[in-house]
Amino acid sequence: MIPRVLLTASLFLISVASNGFATKAPFNPREYPKNVVTCPAINRAENKQVDIDLHYVDINPQAKKTLLFLHGWPGLWASWKYQIEEFQNDYHIIAPDIRGFGASTHPGDVRSSGTMPDLVGDLLCILEHAGALEAIAVGHDWGTQLAYEAARERPDIFTAVVGITIPYMPCAGPFVPTQTLVAAHPRLAYQLFFDSQTHAAATELGRDIRRTLRGTLRHVASPPPEDFLTNPETFLGAWDHYEEIPEIGFLSKEEEDYWVEQYSIQGFKHNLQFYTDENRLAAWQFANEQGNHTIPQPVLSILATEDPVANMELAAKLLHSFDFLPNHSLHRLPTAHWTQLEMPDEVNSIIREWLTKLDAKQEHTHDEL
Ligand SMILES: *[C@@H]1O[C@H](CO)[C@@H](O)[C@H](O)[C@H]1NC(C)=O
Ligand SMILES: *[C@@H]1O[C@H](CO)[C@@H](O)[C@H](O)[C@H]1NC(C)=O
Repeated sequence: MIPRVLLTASLFLISVASNGFATKAPFNPREYPKNVVTCPAINRAENKQVDIDLHYVDINPQAKKTLLFLHGWPGLWASWKYQIEEFQNDYHIIAPDIRGFGASTHPGDVRSSGTMPDLVGDLLCILEHAGALEAIAVGHDWGTQLAYEAARERPDIFTAVVGITIPYMPCAGPFVPTQTLVAAHPRLAYQLFFDSQTHAAATELGRDIRRTLRGTLRHVASPPPEDFLTNPETFLGAWDHYEEIPEIGFLSKEEEDYWVEQYSIQGFKHNLQFYTDENRLAAWQFANEQGNHTIPQPVLSILATEDPVANMELAAKLLHSFDFLPNHSLHRLPTAHWTQLEMPDEVNSIIREWLTKLDAKQEHTHDEL
């Protein structure tokens, strides 16, 4: 028998917690177990089929709707910590480490075996393994481009898109090699380093992973040096005058340790795949040949106004992104590149409000049928 006084005390604790008065425990990435699925892949350099192992966090699989969270570079599933905390009780959450990141393996051949269609295939493999028939794809950085491409290729599975920091980049126009891109936008010079010297870049980035992550995950109040991203020969050179790079504003010391540990598994050997012209060209060819660039599904984009990489709203105008998104809502937030980590409350409430409208509309449609 439980003494009455203890019972009362524990009920009291539960009600305190559910009323939200208890202070929230800090996010601990190590508390989230990961599933692993083996998926087919191609190593194009060696022209052979291989298996890769993809690791993903899978929460609340009983929920009716699935949110699939897609990180960018350099990201991890844990880039979505605040959104996972916000939505994990209402949605089935799937958050993978993309091939080549963390413990998710890669077929090898970083230059040509990590195209957007390859990565969409990985997502389909993960969704099937997790028992999700449909998903809303939520992306940041390259994860945004992946979310749009997934929605374009498989509108039957990806029912809506949230794109953070990056606009839709349709492949309707001619292919733009990195060299040409950088000539027009000098702040993208780092992409030329990653493309033309992929191996040297991976070596530089892997030399001191903590320093690399600190140098890259900056925010408005603690920005990188002015010339960061502008050198086609080095990524971290702009930080050379700093003996130590300041801490990351939106990660605790324990989380930073986790990120360093995850990135130590394979360094940067395979995750510069987004930047190589071989992968970019193959992805462009695939979509361009299919020829349908409009994404009719509902799309929410959240763009940053202080991103040192580029003025993304201007980029969206140049790319005519919005012309291809008939069901599009646009929000702007005054963050640098890591919007969902820099202004989590704002991002969460924008997504929450949009999801609520989406649900209401879909239920309404069902009533009419
Ligand atoms: C685009 O075309 C491909 C190939 O025909 C098709 O499978 C896909 O469903 C189309 N996407 C949209 C959004 O209609
Ligand atoms: C946008 O999507 C919602 C939800 O699916 C739908 O109800 C609405 O009719 C769509 N609007 C347009 C302009 O297609």
